[in-house]
Amino acid sequence: MDKSSTKPFRVGILGCGTVGTGTAKIMLESRPSLKDKTGLDIRLHRVAEKDQAKARASGFDRKLFTDDALAVCNDPEIDLVVEVIGGIEPARTFILAALKAGKAVVTANKALLATHGKEIFKAALASKTSVGFEASVCGGVPVIAAIRDGLVANRIESIHGILNGTTNYILTRMIQNGAPYADALREAQAKGYAEANPANDVKGLDAAHKLTLLANLAFHSTFAFADIHAEGIDAVNIEDVRFAAELGYSLKLLAIAKRQAAGVELRVHPTLIPNSQPLANVRDVFNAILVRGDATGDVMLYGRGAGMMPTGSAIVADIVDAARGSARQAFTKLQFFQNPRADLPVIPIGRITSRYYVRFCVVDKPGVMGKIATMLGQHGISIASVMQKEPHESGDVPVVILTHATVENRFQAALREIARQEFNKRPASLLRVED
Ligand code: NDP
Ligand code: HSE
Repeated sequence: MDKSSTKPFRVGILGCGTVGTGTAKIMLESRPSLKDKTGLDIRLHRVAEKDQAKARASGFDRKLFTDDALAVCNDPEIDLVVEVIGGIEPARTFILAALKAGKAVVTANKALLATHGKEIFKAALASKTSVGFEASVCGGVPVIAAIRDGLVANRIESIHGILNGTTNYILTRMIQNGAPYADALREAQAKGYAEANPANDVKGLDAAHKLTLLANLAFHSTFAFADIHAEGIDAVNIEDVRFAAELGYSLKLLAIAKRQAAGVELRVHPTLIPNSQPLANVRDVFNAILVRGDATGDVMLYGRGAGMMPTGSAIVADIVDAARGSARQAFTKLQFFQNPRADLPVIPIGRITSRYYVRFCVVDKPGVMGKIATMLGQHGISIASVMQKEPHESGDVPVVILTHATVENRFQAALREIARQEFNKRPASLLRVED
């Protein structure tokens, strides 16, 4: 290709915060090497940032900046708009405006796509353009491209992902230092991993947003954010983390999408994983995804799920995809968020099958363990292992049981019956186990 005659591909960025800065930096610094590798002349044309102090602090040419994001969306010279403002509005309005103006869009905004994906992807199809969203799931880890392209020959059977770095950091601290949840959260906040209001991360919503996108892609079907059962880590008790460690398990906030005969399980919750499994060894802020394809078997991706440069890397990959013309081609075929899902109903949480860890807190009296075992047995629940400890100073005795696989509703019914017995000193604590 004659590089000197390549028509420039012009990009506008909305938002010069963490990800916007990383994206602009990569675009400016890597322009020559990108041209060498792709033959494309990708140019940063405009950056919309409402905070002028941030614009000044960025060190980028001030002439790139405007505070008018809508003008960037409608600029006839711009081919592609990167939305890295975050949140629902005005990000949604800007993306729809850019698509209406015929521009390709790239975004890292999983919260917006998981909740308004249908509308946004429909608008992109109508204007014969595309939306790239690699950065929205696991930052620098190219999981979208892997599922969409590299694994295209496969029927995806399951996805197990550590999709949220903040919670993985907190759980790692709890496991390694024995720190209670509140202390580990404070440490994550002090290090800048957790936000001042950490609700989106610790309540499992961020991971559920990401799982919504992955499930749509992997199962070529339409799932909404509301289809995901999400539980966070904010109620995790350090005692359970310690008992689990004794039993050879690590606690992770796992996002699970699993094809079953009756449909698809879609869930995010704290989960015990045997230490022998690779996902159990993903620590600190790292993300990892284990995808099972019918042809490949297990494929695992691992890396940084956030941060200005890793996330910027994913955004630039999507920009290159759009500049090459391949994004639109793939996008048109993908019909993302537009496919009927008649063949793939979501299995309600009560009907999933899982193994369970349960810790009862009971009085120290003869026959209590026997009664618990009998009640579980009466509900058809088979015990895999039992651990009882010496009483606490308070006189409470922890009884920890791991079950074989059973249906959630059945297990919950057994727990309700056990909870009615006078030997309980506190409500039982429950964790699902994935082998
Ligand atoms: P930041 O808050 O750091 O950056 C957003 C920037 O956009 C801010 O500078 C903000 O200014 C600016 N902004 C807000 N409204 C407007 C507007 N109307 N016009 C122009 N600029 C505006 O967010 P991040 O970079 O961290 O995140 C951006 C997106 O990327 C989010 O969707 C996030 O979920 C996603 N993401 C982030 C990752 C990360 O590592 N940070 C990783 C993966 C995805 P002001 O501060 O004044 O409001
Ligand atoms: N808050 C997210 C995390 C990063 O902790 O993984 C952005 O996706």
